[in-house]
Amino acid sequence: MPKTIIVSNRLPIKIQREEDKLSYKPSEGGLATGLGSIYKEGDNIWIGWPGLAIQKTKEKEEIVERLTEENMKPVFLNTSEIEDFYEGFSNETLWPNFHYFNQYAVYEEHLWLAYKKVNRKFAKAIEEVLEEGDTLWIHDYQLLLLPQMVRDINAQTSIGFFLHIPFPSFESFRLLPWRRELLNGMMGADFLGFHTYDDMRHFLSSVNRLAGIGNSNGQINVGNRPVLADALPMGIDYDKYASAAALPDTLDREVRYRTSLGDVKLILTIDRLDYSKGIPQRLLAFEQFLEENEDFQGKVSLLMVVVPSRDKVPKYAQLKEEIDLLVGRINGRFGKMNWMPIHYFYRSFPLNALSAFYRMAHVALVTPMRDGMNLVCKEFIASKLDKKGVLILSEMAGASKELSDAILINPNDIRQLVAAIKEALTMPEDEQQRRMHIMQESLKRYNIHAWVNLFMKRLAFIKKEQENLQTK
Ligand code: G6P
Repeated sequence: MPKTIIVSNRLPIKIQREEDKLSYKPSEGGLATGLGSIYKEGDNIWIGWPGLAIQKTKEKEEIVERLTEENMKPVFLNTSEIEDFYEGFSNETLWPNFHYFNQYAVYEEHLWLAYKKVNRKFAKAIEEVLEEGDTLWIHDYQLLLLPQMVRDINAQTSIGFFLHIPFPSFESFRLLPWRRELLNGMMGADFLGFHTYDDMRHFLSSVNRLAGIGNSNGQINVGNRPVLADALPMGIDYDKYASAAALPDTLDREVRYRTSLGDVKLILTIDRLDYSKGIPQRLLAFEQFLEENEDFQGKVSLLMVVVPSRDKVPKYAQLKEEIDLLVGRINGRFGKMNWMPIHYFYRSFPLNALSAFYRMAHVALVTPMRDGMNLVCKEFIASKLDKKGVLILSEMAGASKELSDAILINPNDIRQLVAAIKEALTMPEDEQQRRMHIMQESLKRYNIHAWVNLFMKRLAFIKKEQENLQTK
């Protein structure tokens, strides 16, 4: 029976070391939920890195055994691979280049070599389980070389690839010394999915400029193999967020948090620690808003959650310092005994707490400098059962293409951001509900399950095209 193999850098499970024992927690990420129904079925399997360095053979065996029971297969990385492949090439070369932060990008041969080596390691893990007729779904920028590596192992395999971050314009992509190899790696897939039309267009333009291959409606011919690229914006598990917002525990938490915060309007921001998220810019805009709107002082607070991420990468560590300083400065400048402008948390929260935050927030401020999609804004919308609340959303987030009923802003335009905060805080309720309703309907329809189905359909479609061509 042919199976589906999902491959991503991270497995959908969090393994942590607690003293000398390992603890296992299922991940709550969007991808894990969306693909849960697939990889847990039959012989299907999810291949990925368990997220930490494991040295002891005994521990490796324990992890393999434990994960096999849950249809997962680990790819172990040693500390130098974590440094050079994960922190290095993935997050100091590709991440900044793909997010237009080229001034942060590091171009170093030894990082590239580690990237190739680890992609090969993933290919090897796939080879161990790959059988005739299997379908592969590879995810994200850490594994750009993998589609072609698998194609070299078995030319007939169905290979889908989805990029969860932006694909940059050729002017950025061309800066990478290994651009051609990266592109060749991606073109090993049969179907390539992107969050937005622009990402897809940028990819096709690089294919054209670097490989001299033109496209027709997103279809390119790699040798004599038709390959398809398309825009497929990722959705969320809408019902999960809507039902979490109705749970007694969530309501309880909301009452408790509200009592502690007092009678203020709440602006919510939730991000992973990342310079692409525009956190300092947002803080500066909030500071300016308070400065220009004295009547709002004491009446509005920012609830800011920053989820720790990649903090061994120097730019991330610097960003953390910058945020700490800014929050301290703004609170020191405007705070009163009975009111704090910013409630800042540097940690992650369980779903019920986040759900209470979403419920409580009058405004969600989602203002990345660049973001492949951004699911936080979608989760906020799904949690607004009474449809009251306003989303301020950066036009640089993939989600802005679907959520045009948000207040859309350019995150570099601080004046516009300040004005948007005021507009959001004073928007009449019926207008809030009108906009929220439209956005909810679209997110309900294009949820994570619809996204998974559509991806699989597009992959099956292009495979069929290839077969038709062969039998002609
Ligand atoms: C983004 C990427 C994912 C990545 C996630 C968390 O959403 O697209 O591939 O897993 O960030 O980052 P981390 O480096 O912790 O895996």
